[in-house]
Amino acid sequence: MELEITGLAFGGKGLAKINGFTIFVDQAVPGDRVLAQVVKKKRSYAETKVVELIEASPHRQAAPCPYSGFCGGCKWQFLKYNQQLEHKRRFVEEALAHIGQITGVPVHNTVASNPIFGYRNKMEFTCTNRKWLLPHELGRPDIEKGVGVGLHVPGTFYKVFDTEACLLQPQRGNQILADIRQYIKNSDDPVYGLHSHRGFWRFVMLRHSVAYDHWMVNLITSAEKPEALKPLADALMAQYKEIVSVVNNVATRKAGVAIGDYERPIAGHSVLKDAIDHFEFEISANSFFQTNTRGAANLYAIVKQYSQLSGKETVLDLYCGTGAISIYLAALAKEVIGFEIMANAIVDAKKNCDLNQIENCRFIVGDLRQGLLQMQVQPEVVIVDPPRAGMHKDVVQQVLAMAPARIVYVSCNPATLARDLQMMKDHYHILEVQPVDMFPHTYHVESVAQLQRRHRILS
Ligand SMILES: C[S@@+](CC[C@H](N)C(=O)[O-])C[C@H]1O[C@@H](n2cnc3c(N)ncnc32)[C@H](O)[C@@H]1O
Repeated sequence: MELEITGLAFGGKGLAKINGFTIFVDQAVPGDRVLAQVVKKKRSYAETKVVELIEASPHRQAAPCPYSGFCGGCKWQFLKYNQQLEHKRRFVEEALAHIGQITGVPVHNTVASNPIFGYRNKMEFTCTNRKWLLPHELGRPDIEKGVGVGLHVPGTFYKVFDTEACLLQPQRGNQILADIRQYIKNSDDPVYGLHSHRGFWRFVMLRHSVAYDHWMVNLITSAEKPEALKPLADALMAQYKEIVSVVNNVATRKAGVAIGDYERPIAGHSVLKDAIDHFEFEISANSFFQTNTRGAANLYAIVKQYSQLSGKETVLDLYCGTGAISIYLAALAKEVIGFEIMANAIVDAKKNCDLNQIENCRFIVGDLRQGLLQMQVQPEVVIVDPPRAGMHKDVVQQVLAMAPARIVYVSCNPATLARDLQMMKDHYHILEVQPVDMFPHTYHVESVAQLQRRHRILS
């Protein structure tokens, strides 16, 4: 069918309507006229894919990456960046209105990421013994088959194509990846089969420190075999003075995640140092760290502005991860208490406090749903930064019962932000919301909401 794309749905698909019936169109943007084919039809909507682009939207641009359209890494390269920012703002505004019944709250223009390519400080590439061929490679005798190291076709674990370069990581990362790929191809040890679950080489993770322009290489293998890794590590460190660490994570389980059962150092340090503003962080291979370092600085600056700290406040940093927000705010508060479910994240948080000579932060490990009730504190400011699923409703109620003067809600999912703010809006004014782009060329958006208590709540 021929369709006129009139909007973008959250999730990044183009939107068209025929007599009020909603049609989602993958890989289409507002202003496109396309010939589309139905791939799924339900009572209230249909999902389609573009067969032919009849007329291109003025908001389109040529995607610089050759894998655009196939790769699950970033799906919006063909949309001009200013349009990406505006659609992200609208996602937040529309989620607040439709899910949270919250209108009239300023949702500011999205803060742009700078740069918009090469911004990712961590990439994970999967090794496969049977790389996925792109449509234009099929049937070509000159295309080498077999081993590949790369990213996935969206929604699949086994369709891994050989990513020669990913534009989301700095260019140096692509050179390092090419050398590692060559070594793996020449190695006597087999590449892990994604179906057979046999083989040695599983994943390659690269981490980049923006502040120091250093790199960490994490080789994830199915067994411990240092003699297979040491020559690679030595060659990499001789070739790239920026590589300061090569580690090995040994992953014996079948699960397709690049986390080992245990880790062995191979060459150099076991951690990478990076900085957000003037705060230093030591990141190990499996530590959580925001993947866009400069974007994180933008995000935390807004958290700081919305917290309005005078130096006298007790601040709760809920879902604190490795404590980056606690550390960022510490000098502006009397005390910051971080709360996090992952014990190893708290080990990192404490180390990072020591590294930055911060003495007024403390951290609690536990599930907020049970743990928050036991806290005997009266915070003036509560920061929440939950995962995509948002806050559990019991945690929302417990925060409301604490009745802090201000709440700063950091969200990576506008839908759960809107749902949670709806539960808070009778007790708190939602003053403003600031979307921040941390992930250019994807539909993901972070946002920060500033809330101010309406009146004291008696629990
Ligand atoms: C978005 S991350 C926080 C990132 C952190 N604020 C930062 O900027 O680096 C969300 C964190 O919530 C933690 N988390 C998830 N469920 C939790 C729970 N029920 N109780 C405590 N922490 C939880 C996760 O382990 C994760 O570290």
